[in-house]
Amino acid sequence: MAAPHRCLVLLLISLAATAASAHNITAVLDGLSEYTLYNSYLSATKVCDEINSRSTVTVLVLPNGAMSSLSSNLSLADVKNALRLLTLLDYYDEKKLHSLHSGSELTTTLYQTTGDASGNMGHVNITNLRGGKVAFASAAPGAKFQATYVKRVKEEPYNLSVLEVSDPITFPGLFGSSPSAASANLTAVLEKAGCKQFARLIVTSGVLKTYQAAMDKALTLFAPNDDAFKAKGLPDLTKLSPADLVTLLEYHALPRYAPKASLKVTTGDIPTMASNGAGKFDLSVHSSGDDVSLDTGVDKSRVASTVLDDTPAVVHTVDNVLLPPELFGSAPSPAPAPVADEPAAAPAPETSAPAPAPKGGKKKKKAKSPSHSPPAPPSESPDMAPADAPDAEDADAADSTKKNGATAVAVSSVAATAACLVLAVAAFL
Ligand SMILES: *[C@@H]1O[C@H](CO)[C@@H](O)[C@H](O)[C@H]1NC(C)=O
Ligand SMILES: *[C@@H]1O[C@H](CO)[C@@H](O)[C@H](O)[C@H]1NC(C)=O
Ligand SMILES: *[C@@H]1O[C@H](CO)[C@@H](O)[C@H](O)[C@H]1NC(C)=O
Ligand SMILES: *[C@@H]1O[C@H](CO)[C@@H](O)[C@H](O)[C@H]1NC(C)=O
Ligand SMILES: *[C@@H]1O[C@H](CO)[C@@H](O)[C@H](O)[C@H]1NC(C)=O
Repeated sequence: MAAPHRCLVLLLISLAATAASAHNITAVLDGLSEYTLYNSYLSATKVCDEINSRSTVTVLVLPNGAMSSLSSNLSLADVKNALRLLTLLDYYDEKKLHSLHSGSELTTTLYQTTGDASGNMGHVNITNLRGGKVAFASAAPGAKFQATYVKRVKEEPYNLSVLEVSDPITFPGLFGSSPSAASANLTAVLEKAGCKQFARLIVTSGVLKTYQAAMDKALTLFAPNDDAFKAKGLPDLTKLSPADLVTLLEYHALPRYAPKASLKVTTGDIPTMASNGAGKFDLSVHSSGDDVSLDTGVDKSRVASTVLDDTPAVVHTVDNVLLPPELFGSAPSPAPAPVADEPAAAPAPETSAPAPAPKGGKKKKKAKSPSHSPPAPPSESPDMAPADAPDAEDADAADSTKKNGATAVAVSSVAATAACLVLAVAAFL
């Protein structure tokens, strides 16, 4: 009974999820000198990744003058929200703007997907004014129709439309509302997010100072939640030397700004703060639809939620402690017997145990500590693993659906169908 139900959930998620798309907003704006400032802010805030992950999107761009006055007085986090409010999650070209049904229309923006938006704040009202002008305003109370349509920049029907507007779309309270990394107390943020144990470790090991120093340059933190430290089969971390504990904690951070939208377009190995340039202590990133997971070679973890995002610092929670093969690859598996999920894979680790090279041993060692990973279908599709966190999954599904009902993705529904078949088979075994 459970499998078909989960299939439906998976299918819905994948239908609602955004696709890796064919457009690249940075490249579209690259040759256009009027929008260089806008384009550079799209890159600095990584809103370009959010735009590129949408298959149907209208980007309202500001010429350099308007962008300069917008950004002069704002934090990067506030500029990011302004750019998101200028990104409409529907296709509007010049023709459509001038022929709105009953003269006005409400549309969703990227800002609505952030979780910062309450009520109608992330919606934009497009209105045909008298005299043929088209104007945009936030649907939030007190917003004004300052932004007017100027000209088309690029139209790729019906996926990407880039239009110039005169002014930003704002509303009272848009700026200065998101928590700022500069003023955030990192341990307090982590404690509030259910990562007390991790917060305690970074304080006692002194790694907090390393993180704090990185927060105003570039930092991405993957904080395991408290349950992750209680997981059965987790190696005894108190046996680590102080130096190895520091390495382990640095392995949970990236020396760059990677919000979830950027992780989604990242594939392959990326260096962590513990990396030494020789490919050691790298993390492998995988994504599927809206889900992102990390693979250490020893274990895997879902990137669960983002608890702080203020360019250039972002804090995500993860479900598992990330175990680098360089520290845990050759440790004896603490679990006495492998779980029944992966019977075929079970014999492999014994034979591969002595392999010293971390890179080469990665894939084989994966099966070594099966109890570190949440139970997954035998199909090696951890991103879609339905059994590990049904609550979060439902939340994600609701979130994705809310985000954008308009995107339909053939590729990921094929993937979901495949996952369903695997699940159905698994249900029989
Ligand atoms: C436009 O979006 C659809 C899905 O909405 C996608 O299948 C198609 O490949 C996209 N076309 C381009 C040119 O990006
Ligand atoms: C988009 O284009 C820019 C330059 O035009 C390039 O640097 C960047 O790598 C491209 N991004 C993707 C995801 O292809
Ligand atoms: C710019 O910032 C200063 C100080 O933070 C503030 O007093 C002023 O009103 C701001 N100007 C604009 C145009 O927002
Ligand atoms: C857009 O705003 C105008 C002016 O406030 C209002 O009359 C109109 O009903 C709004 N349109 C929608 C679809 O909410
Ligand atoms: C940060 O918060 C923790 C409690 O979560 C507190 O012990 C610590 O003193 C705070 N640090 C600063 C600098 O406020």
